Amino acid sequence: MTAKIIDGRALSQEIRDAIRHRVAARMAAKQRIPGLAVVLVGKDPASEIYVRNKRQACKDVGIVSRAFDLPATTTETALLKLIGELNADPAIDGILVQLPLPAHINSETVIEHILPGKDVDGFHPYNIGRLAQRIPLLRPCTPYGIIKLLEKHGERFMQRHAVVVGASNIVGRPMALELLLMGSTVSVCHRFTSQADLEKLVRLADILVVAVGKPKFIPGHWIKSGATVIDVGMNRLADGKLAGDVEFDNAREHAAFITPVPGGVGPMTVAMLLSNTLTAAELRA
Ligand code: GUN
Repeated sequence: MTAKIIDGRALSQEIRDAIRHRVAARMAAKQRIPGLAVVLVGKDPASEIYVRNKRQACKDVGIVSRAFDLPATTTETALLKLIGELNADPAIDGILVQLPLPAHINSETVIEHILPGKDVDGFHPYNIGRLAQRIPLLRPCTPYGIIKLLEKHGERFMQRHAVVVGASNIVGRPMALELLLMGSTVSVCHRFTSQADLEKLVRLADILVVAVGKPKFIPGHWIKSGATVIDVGMNRLADGKLAGDVEFDNAREHAAFITPVPGGVGPMTVAMLLSNTLTAAELRA
C-alpha cells in the first residue's frame, strides 16, 4: 500500500478563500473589519517566521493585524499591561501571544490574562475547559486544523483507536480532546511512556497524530496497515531540509493517508487562526 498524501496547503487555501469572502461580506454590510493583535517577545528565529506567516495570512484575507514586537527584556508586568489594553480595545477581536515566551515570563499567567473571547489561540483554561466539556468555542488552531483535514478526506472516528504522541498544551492535549469529541477511543503517549508501550500503542493506531519535535521519532514499520498518519513535526535537519516526526518514506508504505512535511499540518494552523479571529469578531458582534 502507498498512502495518499493529505494536502494541507489545498484545504488551507479553501478555508482562507471562504474567510476572505466572509470578511468582504462584513465590509459590504458596513460591519467592522476583524482585528488581530500579534505579540512577539524576543527574537526566536522560528517564532519570527511563524509570526511573519500569520501576519501575511491576515493581510491576504483582509483581516487587520497589528504587530507588537517587544524586546526579550520585556517584563511580565509590561506584557500583562499591554494585554489589558488590547482586551479593552474595541478594534481588536483576537490576541495572539507567540510561544515560547522568554524564561522570565510565566506563559500561563499571560494566557490567563487574555479575555477568553479574544483568545484566538484557544489556550485559555476557559476555552480548553469548554473543549473538554464538549461545548467548544475558540479551539486550539493546530488540533482544530487537523480535525478539518481528517474530515476532509472522510475519516471515520467512531470505533477507531486514535493515538496521540506528545502531550503539550499546544498540540497533544487539545488534540486528544478533539479526537474524543469526535468519538474515537483515544490514547496519549508522552515523555514518561515506556518505549515498549509507545511501540505497542502506535502499532494499534487507526489514526496516529505525532507532535514531539524529534525527526523520524516514529519508525515507519510501526504504522498499522491502512492507518491515517498526521505528522505535526517540523524539524530542520543538518542539510537544511525539513523532516517530520515520522519516518515518512517507510510509513507511506503502510498507511492509507499521510500528511507531508512541509505542506500538511502547518498551513492548517494559520487557516484556523484566521477562522478563530473571524469567529471572535462575530461572537463580539
Ligand atoms: N508556538 C508554536 N505554536 C504556536 C501556536 O499555535 N500559537 C502560539 N501562540 N504560539 C505557538
